[in-house]
Amino acid sequence: MTATHSRLLAFGSAFPERVLTNHDLAQRIDTSDAWIRERTGIEQRRQLADGENNSDIAAAAAQAAMARAGIDASDIDLVLACTNTPDRWLPSLGAAVQARLGLRAGVPAYDIVTACAGWLAGLQTADALVRTGHHRHVLVIGSEALTRFVDWSDRNTCVLFGDGAGATIVAPAQADDGGVLIDVRLHSDGRYGDIMTLPAGGTAMPTTPEAATRRLNCIHMDGREVYAHAVRAMVEVSQEVLTRNGLTLGDVDWFVPHQANLRIIQAVARRLGMPAERVATNVHKYGNTSTATIPTCLQEYEADGRIRRGQLVLMTAFGGGLTWASGLMRW
Ligand code: ACO
Repeated sequence: MTATHSRLLAFGSAFPERVLTNHDLAQRIDTSDAWIRERTGIEQRRQLADGENNSDIAAAAAQAAMARAGIDASDIDLVLACTNTPDRWLPSLGAAVQARLGLRAGVPAYDIVTACAGWLAGLQTADALVRTGHHRHVLVIGSEALTRFVDWSDRNTCVLFGDGAGATIVAPAQADDGGVLIDVRLHSDGRYGDIMTLPAGGTAMPTTPEAATRRLNCIHMDGREVYAHAVRAMVEVSQEVLTRNGLTLGDVDWFVPHQANLRIIQAVARRLGMPAERVATNVHKYGNTSTATIPTCLQEYEADGRIRRGQLVLMTAFGGGLTWASGLMRW
């Protein structure tokens, strides 16, 4: 049976308990709380403890979303784990989460790897599979363990990232249901792959002792280039998704951008003409958690009543690849 639309039933999120403040980082590297706040808006981030893994927070976020939606584990018929930092390269994070949640054997589970735009790519995939009748309850998780992939001696990158997970369940809907996903647009441009990369660990460069010594198994980034592309791309794709659906920025109640850093968010909002009071942020508490930033923001703003039923939500993300995306939802 096909549905005219898909809808997001509820949100869940999970963060490791360990808090790493800017002051903590300033004890280890040549930086300061003032520099990090001024350039990024980040005050602290969460970090997995030794022995904790991405699948721990991914499963916890999924359980929170299922509880909130009143959905039993036996109802889930597909798991999409959007991540760049799985527990292991094989098996997938999706498969690890499927086992952790005790889902029915045979329920498909796989990963979507599209940098920070991953969760929106997951929503687009889930939407198509729900509307064509392939699946009825798709768990879409954005979950990251980025602190395991940063070079803690590189002040250009290590201050930016944190660990966290957010999740939703996508199910069939009619156009007038709450939580309806209106549209998702996704783009990539592989020509700029080198401006944000994790060089070692793939076929191009095995993780040899030499590669590890040179910290090539960690995230490398040209911050200024990323900044310029991120602002341009997120503005363009936001305008694209609105125009395609006959909407304008004035129709948008909440703008939920990827939380890379506050300066990028403010520049995008300014260029779009979006007032600050309609822009959702949680980057000050969690840093950049990549695929988890949008679902964790949605969870927080919906749970405390700021995002209300019937409101139009515009979501936008940008990440390595390059990949960028925008989605519209009527909560
Ligand atoms: N503490 C103190 N000083 C620092 C730090 C730090 N943590 N990091 C860099 N600096 C220094 C630099 O070494 C440089 O010193 P120099 O002039 O002596 O060489 C100085 O600060 C200025 O460096 P810039 O790179 O010019 O600083 P900029 O104002 O561009 O800010 C930043 C850097 C915050 C990384 C910025 O470029 C940025 O926000 N880029 C986007 C990157 C991003 O958010 N990536 C996330 C992943 S991609 C995504 O999710 C969209």
